[in-house]
Amino acid sequence: MKFGAATAAYQIEGATRVDGRGESIWDRFAHTPGHVARGETGDVACDHYNRWESDLDLMAALGIETYRFSIAWPRVMPNGDGTVNAAGLDFYRRLAQGLRERGIEPVATLYHWDLPQALQEQGGWGERETAERFAEYVAAVADELGDVIEKWITINEPWVVAFQGHAYGTKAPGVRDWPTALRASHHVLLAHGLAAQMLGPHVGITLNLAPVEPETDSAADRQAAERWDGHLNRWFLEPVLRGEYPREMVELYERRCGRLEWIEDGDLSLIAAPTEFLGVNYYAPTRVRADARRGPLEVAQAPPGPHTTAMGWEVDPDGLYRLLSRVRADYGDLAIAITENGASYDDPPTADNGRVDDPQRTAYLKSHLAALRRAVGDGVRVESYFVWSLLDNFEWEWGYDKRFGIVHVDFETQRRTPKDSALWYRDYISRARNGGLED
Ligand code: FCB
Repeated sequence: MKFGAATAAYQIEGATRVDGRGESIWDRFAHTPGHVARGETGDVACDHYNRWESDLDLMAALGIETYRFSIAWPRVMPNGDGTVNAAGLDFYRRLAQGLRERGIEPVATLYHWDLPQALQEQGGWGERETAERFAEYVAAVADELGDVIEKWITINEPWVVAFQGHAYGTKAPGVRDWPTALRASHHVLLAHGLAAQMLGPHVGITLNLAPVEPETDSAADRQAAERWDGHLNRWFLEPVLRGEYPREMVELYERRCGRLEWIEDGDLSLIAAPTEFLGVNYYAPTRVRADARRGPLEVAQAPPGPHTTAMGWEVDPDGLYRLLSRVRADYGDLAIAITENGASYDDPPTADNGRVDDPQRTAYLKSHLAALRRAVGDGVRVESYFVWSLLDNFEWEWGYDKRFGIVHVDFETQRRTPKDSALWYRDYISRARNGGLED
């Protein structure tokens, strides 16, 4: 298994108005008051666009073996209309080459939420056309960068794109309309299928999955959990891995939103295009309870267990084990990449001796890696593990105070300080390499 770290373009790059980059839906969303805590934006973020070389040096010093980053669509195609911006592609070529020179494998995500704003103005993911525009963008990237990047992730977290972006409205583009969200969910999957066909063989999609637990054993709570599992997990797993949408979810959605007539013949076989691996992002389980006052799609969240992170997310390493066991039991022996796992905590400030003492993050990583090893021991095929995140960064609607990095970033000075968890991870990777993980 390879050990790595992950980031995403809008969360770290900054430099949003240079070298021909176009506006993305996250620029627009973050600059609209009321959307992001304290009005923060990704304008500067970690300034990684200018500091990428020293960031790669830092990664090399930590012994990171593989790096998952994302390519910003609006750097490559500023207006989303097929016109390529060579300067944007050049940045990612330098980055990929820099990784290879340091012996780090580049893994590129093609869509980590930064749709060109110009495409949003034409309806964004609500429109089928957007999947075709995505295919054009992917073709250009594969053509230009296929010699330096061999491993690809098409879409990051289609559930978040579709439902947080278009039903709950908490993320860009901030739409609140269930029928649009459902169309968006289909079109991002279609975009994945079109891209996977082009990029094969080393390609996968990243899903945010969670074991869903009913709060009590009552029939009503169990039914609510079943429905949430259909909404969060199976709505994406089934089309990608089996070429069909879960029937009871189709019925539920159709009762609520009208016929899903935008699913066309042939779409599902495209969406189920063969892929090399399934990307899984795991943070926490979801606990749900029935709530008769809510509509069938608005399942109530039950309180998390006693241990939570700064996001309020429950710490449950066994949840990762249960999730991987379930994926294997239901979908067979597929290769899995843990494309994100990690925790946000309010770290203490950097000490005078340059240390950041973050024992809770280390404990989180340690326990989740142990759960992962347990799943691997049972035969689950996990080929790589990426910590979220390399750097403290722009955590979407939460802004900069949710720190997920194993490397601390001082956003005033842009100074990087590896936290104790990064040093622990460095030693863990080196022990894994030398066969010393028994303790
Ligand atoms: C995931 C996102 C990632 C980051 C983590 C905490 O949903 O893919 O960008 O925000 O959550």
